[in-house]
Amino acid sequence: MCGIVGYVGPKSVIDILTNGLSKLEYRGYDSAGVAVNSNGKIKIYKAEGKLQNLKDLLETHRSEITNTTAGIGHIRWATHGAPTTINAHPHSCNCGKLVLVHNGIVENYKELREELKGCGCIFKTETDTEVVAHLIAHEYGKLNDLPKAVRAAAKRLKGAYALCVMHQDDPNMIVGTRKNAPLIVAMGQGENYLASDSPAIIEYTKRVIYLDDDQFAVLTPTSVLITDIDGKQVAKKEEILPWEPVAMSKMGYKHFMLKEIHEQPDVIRNVLSGKLPDITKPIVLDEVKLTKEQIKNLKRIEIIACGTSLHAALVAKYILEAFTNIPVDVEPSSEYIYRKTVTDANTLVIGISQSGETSDTITAIRQAKAVGSHVLIITNRPDSIMAREADSLIPVNAGIEVSVAATKSFNAQLIALYLFSMYVAEIKGSFDSSKIEQLKHEMMMLPQKIETVLSHEESIIKCARAFASYKNFIYIARGINYPTALEGALKLKEISYINATGYPAGELKHGPIAMLDETMPVLAILMPGSIVYEKILSNAEEAKARNARMIALTSAEDPHLEDVFEYILKVPAVDEYLSPVIASVPLQLLAYYIAEFLGKDVDQPRNLAKSVTVE
Ligand code: G6P
Repeated sequence: MCGIVGYVGPKSVIDILTNGLSKLEYRGYDSAGVAVNSNGKIKIYKAEGKLQNLKDLLETHRSEITNTTAGIGHIRWATHGAPTTINAHPHSCNCGKLVLVHNGIVENYKELREELKGCGCIFKTETDTEVVAHLIAHEYGKLNDLPKAVRAAAKRLKGAYALCVMHQDDPNMIVGTRKNAPLIVAMGQGENYLASDSPAIIEYTKRVIYLDDDQFAVLTPTSVLITDIDGKQVAKKEEILPWEPVAMSKMGYKHFMLKEIHEQPDVIRNVLSGKLPDITKPIVLDEVKLTKEQIKNLKRIEIIACGTSLHAALVAKYILEAFTNIPVDVEPSSEYIYRKTVTDANTLVIGISQSGETSDTITAIRQAKAVGSHVLIITNRPDSIMAREADSLIPVNAGIEVSVAATKSFNAQLIALYLFSMYVAEIKGSFDSSKIEQLKHEMMMLPQKIETVLSHEESIIKCARAFASYKNFIYIARGINYPTALEGALKLKEISYINATGYPAGELKHGPIAMLDETMPVLAILMPGSIVYEKILSNAEEAKARNARMIALTSAEDPHLEDVFEYILKVPAVDEYLSPVIASVPLQLLAYYIAEFLGKDVDQPRNLAKSVTVE
C-alpha cells in the first residue's frame, strides 16, 4: 500500500527520496511523486505508473532542483480517485506552499471538503488527501505554526492516516503523524527521516523511533521532537533496526520472488534455531507468555489472517486440532471485524501476518484483546504494529520479503505454527510423544528436502511451459493439503493473472466438475499418509474422464499415477503433517515460471500491494 518517505538534511533530497521510494516499491503502487524545498520554494513533481517515470521526469528537471533543504515523497496505491498524475501525491493547498503525502483513507473527507470549499479552498483532485492539505493550510493560516496546524487538523480527521507535511516557510522542517497506518522516524547525523517502512532508510541509519497512534514528530536536521495531539512532549525509546541493507538485494536472481523461494531452506533453519534444541527436549518458545495453566485451560483457538497468511492458518487448524484437541476456528480478518467478537479469556486468538501491519488483522486483534483474549502474533516483522501490540509473539525470522507474492514467509509461518502446536501438545500431553519426536526429526530434515526440490526445477519449468497459455486452472487436494491447493492457486492468480481456484477434491463433483474439459487443467496434490491419498486419486480420475489435462504433485512411488497424469511433479517423501511445507515449493515455482513465460511483472503484480494498510 502507499509508501512515504520524508527527509530533512543537507544531502540531495531528490536522491534520498527516490532511493527510499524504490525500496518501498514492493508495497505496490500505481503513481509516484515528490515535493522538495529547493531555493526556498516548494516544487512538486509527479508521474503516473512506475517509479522510473518519476525518476525520468526528475532527471529532466535536475538542474532546477538545487539548494534543497527538505522533501517528501510518495508512491500511491489508488483508493480515492484514479491512478492519474493529478491524483498522485504530494497534494498542496491553494497557494502551493503547504504540501503533504498520505497513506490511508480519511473517512470524513466529503464533509470536510464541503466545509473547506465554503472557506475558499479550490480542489484540483478527487482524493481524500487533498482535503487534508487544505485543512492543515487553513489551520496554518490561523496559527502560523506548522506542528500546531497539523495537530489541530488531525483532531478533525476520521479514518486511517500516516501523514508527512512540509511548508515553504519552514524550509528545515517536516512534520509527521499517524493513526492506524505505519510511520517511523529515523535519525541520522545532521539529518532525519520519516518513512512508512524501514527498507526506505536502512541504508542511511538503523536508529529509529516507532510512532504510536496520535503521536506527532517534528523533524529538523538536528532535532526530533515527539508530542501527543495536544503538543505535550512524549519520551520515546530509540530502537535499532534488526535488518541489514543487503536484504533488499536480488543477489543475482532475476526476481526477488525466485530469490525468496530459494531462501526457504535457510529460513526454516533460522526459524528452528534455538526453538528446537534436540528432538528429545521440549520446544522452546520464550516469547510465548501464556502460563502452563493458561495453556491447559484453553477451550478454543481462533486464528485470524489475510491472503497467504490465512492459508498458513488453515494448515494450522489441522495440526493444532490433531496435536492439542483444542477446537480451532480460522477466519479472514476482514470478516472477523464485522461480526460480534464472541471470544473470552479461555480463547487464544492467533494473528498471522507477514508484514504485521495489515489493517484488518490489526483491527481484529484489537477487538479480541478488548474482550480479554490473549493475543499471540506470528509475524515476520518483530518491528511491526502487531508485534508491538501482541501479548505473545513468535517471530518467524524470514528476513525482509520484497516480492509481493508471499513465499518464504508462508513456510516460515508454517514452521512457527508446527512449533507452537508441539509446544502446546507437550504441555498438555495431548499427543503421542514418540510421534512428536519423529516429527521434530523430520522438521530438521525439511531444509534438505526443499533443497532437493529446488535442484529439480527443470521438471517444473517444463510443466510451466506446457501450461502457460491456459486461461483457467483448478487445484485439488484434501485434508491438510487443501490449504496448500488454495495457496498454489493464489500464487498463480497473483502473478500470472490466470483464473486459478483451489477446491477440496471431494467438492469437485458438487459443481466445479461442470467446467472440466480439455481447456481446464487440474493439478492434484497427492501426499501419501492418511486415506485421503486414494480419495484424491479417484477424484483425479473423474477429472481425467472429462478430458482435463492432469498434473500430479506427489511424493508417492505409485506406477498407477502415470495412467492418470500427464505431468508428475515429484517431491521427497515426508510425513503427511509436514507435507504442506514441501508441497508448496513446486507450486510457488510453477506459478513463478508460468508468470515468467507470460512476461508478467513477477515481483510487482498489477493491482496488488505487499502490505494492505487500508480496509
Ligand atoms: C496482501 C499481499 C499478500 C498477503 C496479504 C496478507 O494481500 O499481497 O501476499 O498474503 O496481504 O498480508 P500479511 O502481511 O498480513 O501476511
